[in-house]
Amino acid sequence: MDHFDIRDGAMHAEGVPLDTIADAVGTPVYVYSAATIRRHVTVFRDALAGLEHDGRAPLIAFAVKANPNAAVLTVLAQMGCGADVVSGGELKRALAAGVPADRVVFSGVGKTVDEMAYALEADIGQFNLESEEEAETLSTVAAKLDRTARVAFRVNPDVDAGTHAKISTGRSENKFGIPFDTAPQAYARAAALPGLAVQGVAVHIGSQLTDLHPLKQAFARIGALIQSLRAAGHVIETADLGGGLGVPYDPAKPAPPSPAAYGAMVREATAGWACRLIFEPGRLIVGNAGVLLTSVIRVKPGVRSPFVIVDAAMNDLMRPALYDAWHNIRAVHPKGDRFEANVVGPVCETGDTFAMQRGMDRVEEGDRVAFMTAGAYAATMASTYNSRPLTPEVMVSGNKWAIVRARQPVEALIAADSVPEWATSSSE
Ligand code: LLP
Repeated sequence: MDHFDIRDGAMHAEGVPLDTIADAVGTPVYVYSAATIRRHVTVFRDALAGLEHDGRAPLIAFAVKANPNAAVLTVLAQMGCGADVVSGGELKRALAAGVPADRVVFSGVGKTVDEMAYALEADIGQFNLESEEEAETLSTVAAKLDRTARVAFRVNPDVDAGTHAKISTGRSENKFGIPFDTAPQAYARAAALPGLAVQGVAVHIGSQLTDLHPLKQAFARIGALIQSLRAAGHVIETADLGGGLGVPYDPAKPAPPSPAAYGAMVREATAGWACRLIFEPGRLIVGNAGVLLTSVIRVKPGVRSPFVIVDAAMNDLMRPALYDAWHNIRAVHPKGDRFEANVVGPVCETGDTFAMQRGMDRVEEGDRVAFMTAGAYAATMASTYNSRPLTPEVMVSGNKWAIVRARQPVEALIAADSVPEWATSSSE
C-alpha cells in the first residue's frame, strides 16, 4: 500500500500534486512519501509482534543500500530503526542520520581494514563476518585498537531463493557467507581470536522473494546450527534473519506474501531459539514509497508500437536494464484510454528501455509519467552515464514537501575531473 493516488484527475503524493513538484524542481525527479515509509515500518513491526526476547523487540535494521537518502534514514531513525550497512560510507550516513551505533549491523563480503577500524571506533552492534579470513583480519584490527568486535557469521544455507539470479545470495556457489558445513570450524576459530566476541548467526538468501518456502528452509538450517553451536559452548544471543521479502511491482500479478504471513512463518521457524532477532528489510520499507517522475520528450513511431521517449533513463533507474525489472508506468493525468507503447530513455543504448509493448495509459509529448515502486534500489543505483547529472529527490509528508537532494548541475561533474598540464599542449 502506498500514498500515490489519482485525485481530481492528477496523481498526488499524499496531499501534494506531483505537478507542483515537477513545476518547481523539473523532471526527472524521485518523489518519496514519508507516510508510506512510516506505514511500512509499522506494518513490519506489527508482523513481528510476540517475537520479543528478554523483553526486547526484534531489531529492524533497515538495509541502507535500498535508499540511503539522509531524509529517508532520518525518518527511519526517528522510528527507532537500526541500519544494516555494507560500507564505511553507509555507516557514516546511518550515524549522521541519528541511528544509534548499537543498532548497526555491518554486512558485506569485502570489508576493508579501514572500514573495520571505523566501525570499531563507532562501536557498532554487530559485524556479520563472511569468511574465516575476515574474522582473522577483524580480530587483528580490533586488538590493535584495544576493542572487541561483536560478531556473527553469515552462514550460507545453500537454498535457492527462487528470485532473479543477480539478486540471489544463498546458494553455495554464491560469494556470500561461510559454507554451512564449515560453520562449526569457523566458530571455533573465531572464539579463539582475541579481538572478537562471538554473539550470533546471520543469514540472507536473496531479495524480492515471493515465496516463503526457501526462507523457511534456510531458517530451519539456522535453527539446527544454533543448537549445535551452543552444544559446542558458543554463546549465541542474536539471530539475524536478513531481508528479502518482496513487494508488489505488477498489480496484475499475485502479491508476494504479506509481512503478517512472513511474521507467522518466522514465529514458527524460530520457536525456542531464545535469541534476539534482527531483520534487515530494505525494499519492503521503501520500495513502494517512491516514484520516479518523468516527462515525455516526444513520441516516435515504431514498427509495432510507438516509442515514448521520456526524460528519465537507465542511468536514473537501472533496474529494468540490469534485471529486466518490471515497473508500473502510469500517467500523472490519466486521460481514460490506454495504448501499447515502448517506453525508453534518451541514453544511447538499446538497453535504455523501460518497457516494450506495454499496455499503459495513453500519453503524448509533454505529458508527465510516473514509474511506480521506485523507492528502493533506484536513486541509489543511479550513475551519471551520458553526462546526465544525478536525479534530484523530494520527500512529501502530508501537505508538505521538500527537496532532499538537489539536482546536480552538470558543472559539478566537469569540476570533479582535473586536466593535467601536459594534456593541454599538442606536443610531448
Ligand atoms: N541484507 C543483506 C545482507 C543484503 O544483501 C540485502 C540486499 C538486504 C539485507 C536487503 O534486502 P531487501 O530486503 O531489500 O530485499 N539492486 C537489486 C537488489 C539487491 C539486493 C542486495 N542485497 C534490485 O534492484 O532488485
